[in-house]
Parts: sequence; C-alpha cells; structure tokens
Amino acid sequence: MTRQERKIPQGPSRKLPGLTVLGVETSCDETGVAVINSEHGLLAHALYSQIELHALYGGVVPELASRDHVRRLTPMISQVLAQAGMTTDDLDGIAYTAGPGLVGALLVGAATARSMAWALAIPAVAVHHMEGHLLAPALEADPPQPPYVALLVSGGHTLLVQVLALGEYRLLGETLDDAAGEAFDKTAQLLGLPYPGGPHLARLAETGEPGRFRFSRPMTDRPGLDFSFSGLKTQVLLAWRKLDAPSPQDRADVARAFEDAVVDTLAIKCERALAATGNSRLVVAGGVGANRRLRQRLETMTAGLGGRVWFPRPEFCTDNGAMIALAGMLRLQAGQAGSLDIQVRPRWPLTQLQPPAALAGDAQATVAAQSS
Ligand code: KG4
Ligand code: ZN
Repeated sequence: MTRQERKIPQGPSRKLPGLTVLGVETSCDETGVAVINSEHGLLAHALYSQIELHALYGGVVPELASRDHVRRLTPMISQVLAQAGMTTDDLDGIAYTAGPGLVGALLVGAATARSMAWALAIPAVAVHHMEGHLLAPALEADPPQPPYVALLVSGGHTLLVQVLALGEYRLLGETLDDAAGEAFDKTAQLLGLPYPGGPHLARLAETGEPGRFRFSRPMTDRPGLDFSFSGLKTQVLLAWRKLDAPSPQDRADVARAFEDAVVDTLAIKCERALAATGNSRLVVAGGVGANRRLRQRLETMTAGLGGRVWFPRPEFCTDNGAMIALAGMLRLQAGQAGSLDIQVRPRWPLTQLQPPAALAGDAQATVAAQSS
C-alpha cells in the first residue's frame, strides 16, 4: 500500500475498497481531522490550531480549549469528508484520541466520534495519542518496519520507546521533569519570545554564535536513557541574568547554546538506545521533531552507524488527525473491535497498550448492539 496522498475525484458518495477511517484529534490545543483509506492512503486532512486563543495566557487554558473544539470539530469533519469526495456512508470506522490529554478536550472528540459511529453502525476505536505519534512516519512513502526505536519529543512528553509491533511498546527512557518541548517553551519565554516558543527559539538560534555560552548535557555523564531538562532551564536563567542589558546578539547566542545542549542530549540518548536494543532504525515524532538542527544531528548520527532516521513531515510531527486515523485504521485492519464506551484517559501509560488481537473481542456483538 502506498500511503502517499492522492487526489480522488469529487462527487457523490463513493465507497472505496479496503477500509476508510475518519480520524479525530482533540487532546490539547489542536483540532485535527483526517480521512484515510487502507488502499489509497491519506485522502484528506485538516488542522486548526488554537495557538492564538491561548497565546494571551502564555499556555493552554483547558476550558477554552474544550469550547473551541466544540465549535470547530463538526464543521471540520464535513469539510474533510467533502475534500475526500465522500459522505459519512463511505466510512468503515472512526478513530479518536482517547488519551492522554486534557479531559474536557478529549471528551469533545470522543463523544462526537462515538456518537457518529453509533449512528452509522460502524466501529469506533479509542486511540492512544502517543501511538499516533509513533506510527506517523507510516503516513509517508517507504515507512520503517518494526522493530525500531522511537524518540517522542513533544510539549508534554519526552520518551524513548522500542516499537516491537503495533500495540507492543517497550519504554526505554523518559523525562524525570520537563519535556523537551516544555524546556524550549519555558526558555523561549525567559528570552521574551512569543508562545509557543520552540519554533521562535530555533529561528533565533540560527543567528547565534555557537560556543559563546555552554550549558550542560543533563544526565549524559551516567548510564541510562532517562532525561532531565529542568536544570538546563535554570542554567539559562542564571546566564541570562548575568548579562547586563543583553543585546539581540546575546539573546541569539544564549538561544543557540540552549538548542545545542538539548539537541546533543537527545542525540546522545538516541545513540545509546540504538546500541542497547541492537537497532539501527530510529523514528522521531512529536513537535520538537520539527527542529532542523535535531534532524541534521540525528541524520549524521544514524548514518555513522549505518542506519537511518525517519521523520514525519513537520505538519505530521505536531498534533494532527492523520496519525490518529492511521493508528485506528491499522488497529481495525488487524482485527480490533470497536468499543461502545465513551471513555477517555487523561493519564494513560503507553506501555499499558495492547496489540489489536488482544482487543478483538466480539466485533459482531458490537456492530449488532450499535444497530439495534
Ligand atoms: O507534539 P506537539 O505539537 O504537541 C504536544 O503534544 O505537546 O509539540 C509541541 C511542542 C511545543 O513545545 C513546541 O514549542 C515544540 O513542540 N516545537 C519545537 C519546534 N517546533 C515545535 N521545538 C523546537 N524546535 C522547533 N522547530
Ligand atoms: Zn502530541
């Protein structure tokens, strides 16, 4: 199967061969909707970011996020179906993010997806947000085959995971405090950059002089695959305070030193994880995976090992509906049954996930119950 996006002719209802799945993502501050087909790949997707809504507060306000998902989600579903040249009758399943995330925001997607699935008598699949990120490289042509090591670096998470098969994940390491994206955002805020600061800081670092400041590479001086980024943030704070009336160049130099420290730390741990698992395939996912210097560094590192690194394109690194549609489609394809629950899990360890076969249940009973 190619997972390349393909334009299909517009028109009335058109049922495609294979499985056609609608994906809905509402775990945080992005509303993402997509339609995917197991034979044709991604058919259409749309993303609405609430960044402007929350920028005023310097972080995501959960109640505002939920309300905005309510406003956007249904029109976006209609828009994406129209783009795919489809109607709801052409869907074989609906996948939604069931966690982890903000409970109110998750409930908007879960209730909408579950109700639609009930009305259409098709299965609804509760998808783990991180599983979506882990599988996102498969939205591109030539995806990696498991087993591989995945680095998940987002605003809320920093994990190193060994992907053995769909639903079989071994946690290799995680952050003990701040996530990598959170460290980028907090440091950017300290330097007076707008929210969310990661991409702004990365842009500023481009003009910074490397080596003028040097921050530590936390937890690289001892064995292990865990991370810690909160001390790094404090080091930046102290260096910044020492500067008397900092110039724009000072600011860029500090940004460069911070980015170099994070990128180095992530690369050192990835190299260790590959050695520990005897793997040479690395996948990077999550918003920080959009960072250009991190991409370059990991490309050089894996090439040096005779391996390879996969990155989803930047729009699929950050939260999106396509990765949720993909994870749901793969699970349905592998025989997982839909569930009638509208259950969300704000905290949901990735290692508690089960492979699709373990959730095969009684699909017939589910469909019968849906249509009765
Ligand atoms: O995966 P994501 O969209 O949302 C979460 O699930 O958290 O990741 C967002 C995070 C933010 O912290 C943002 O600042 C960071 O990814 N980010 C970046 C870059 N682009 C986004 N950090 C560093 N460099 C970038 N180019
Ligand atoms: Zn995410």
